[in-house]
Amino acid sequence: MIYIVSGTQWGDEGKAKVIDFFALDFDYVVRYQGGANAGHTVCFNDKKIVFHLMPSGILRENVTTIIGNGVVLELSELMKEIEIVSREINIDGRLWISRKANIVMPYHKLMDKVKEEATGKDIGTTLRGIGPCYVDKMDRVGIRLEDLYGSKDILKQKIEKAYLVKKFMFENYYKISDLPTVEEMLDGVLLYAEKLEKYVADTEKILHNAHKERKNILFEGAQGALLDIDFGTYPYVTSSNTISAGALIGSGIGAFDIANVIGITKAYITRVGGGPFPTELKDEIGDYIRKQGNEFGSTTGRPRRCGWFDAVATKYAIDINGVKEIFLTKIDVLDGLREIKVCTKYRLPDGSLTEYFPANSCLLEKVTPEYLKLPGWEEKTFGLRSYAKLPDNAKRYIEFLETILERKISYISTGFDRDDVIER
Ligand code: GDP
Ligand code: IMO
Ligand code: MG
Repeated sequence: MIYIVSGTQWGDEGKAKVIDFFALDFDYVVRYQGGANAGHTVCFNDKKIVFHLMPSGILRENVTTIIGNGVVLELSELMKEIEIVSREINIDGRLWISRKANIVMPYHKLMDKVKEEATGKDIGTTLRGIGPCYVDKMDRVGIRLEDLYGSKDILKQKIEKAYLVKKFMFENYYKISDLPTVEEMLDGVLLYAEKLEKYVADTEKILHNAHKERKNILFEGAQGALLDIDFGTYPYVTSSNTISAGALIGSGIGAFDIANVIGITKAYITRVGGGPFPTELKDEIGDYIRKQGNEFGSTTGRPRRCGWFDAVATKYAIDINGVKEIFLTKIDVLDGLREIKVCTKYRLPDGSLTEYFPANSCLLEKVTPEYLKLPGWEEKTFGLRSYAKLPDNAKRYIEFLETILERKISYISTGFDRDDVIER
């Protein structure tokens, strides 16, 4: 059985909590794209772990985790996470990293930084070097994990080749003087080679065998559909295919039957960084949601922009992902609001109405959301684990979303703890 869990908004929908929850029933959990730009939080036994690279299923001892070829690896971050998780649980034999995965090099992070500075932080990246690393991958000058285990001379030549033009730009255009040397970067990556060697594998082969043995495989999307490089709000997106289709490319699983795609959807919506955001709340309600939902970036600590649920955007995300059912998260954050709005249509600049999401940033900046108003609820939903116990207006809100999205909301998350879940 193959399941894909994918965010339907601009990230931070609570994917890690959901992966950790589902992982009990799966043999494999696989990350397939993105890198340490992701911040995936799992809360258990009063502890909190934020994963950037390791699959969030690693905390369940029944699970083998895989970091697929589509992920870009920041080696120092990976090592740090391995150490943190190893203090909690034995990971030996439960973590495999694709030898084909590309490595984020110091010049990628530097390029990310100078580009952001030069453009006034227009995109507002996480500065993890993600975009520049994927650029080099496509330009065929990427450094792959497997390169650490071949000839040192060849690796040095590869780094030189990838660095050549960038070094010229850093020196002559951006006027940076204290640049890392090729030797320093070579030693820097080789530092991790020995420690990581036992995890390196042909992960596609592991997955093919797992599939043949009818194992249950769960794919963990990072970011969200609206940040997808092709279908998101380009150019205000990340540099990978975040949607469910990316799971195939980023792991080599092959287009076998995908039993289910579960869309993770927050009961409102957030965005970090720049870009259009039609339902953004720049008022005290936005501040209330940010405070109640602790909406601060798991990777960068930046305050997240908050807004009303956008059904136009979510319906689009459902379609491009092939979402079959929905896991609604953070309903408890709306507790205490007198009135809740849902955007059901956009008014376009020419006055016409549309229910279809225009993933065009220039146009999206100019749309006006049309809202339906629903009554809020005073009672606390935080930590509730039975649908019957939810306030009537919370049920009404959930059932309204189901109707408008034309998908069943099969699970509802009511708190950050791994067990705060209602199954319907
Ligand atoms: P991800 O990137 O999609 O995995 O999400 P993040 O970890 O970046 O952000 C989600 C945040 O919300 C984390 O701090 C979670 O612990 C927390 N969270 C997840 N589900 C719920 C929920 O239902 N209610 C509340 N209050 N917090 C939640
Ligand atoms: P998770 O997996 C929210 C955003 C950045 C920026 C844009 C490009 O935790 O949901 P990048 O560093 O990827 O080049 O930045 O994408 N972004 C995220 N926003 N959650 C994430 O991941 C994100 N990963 C990247 O803020 O706007
Ligand atoms: Mg996150």
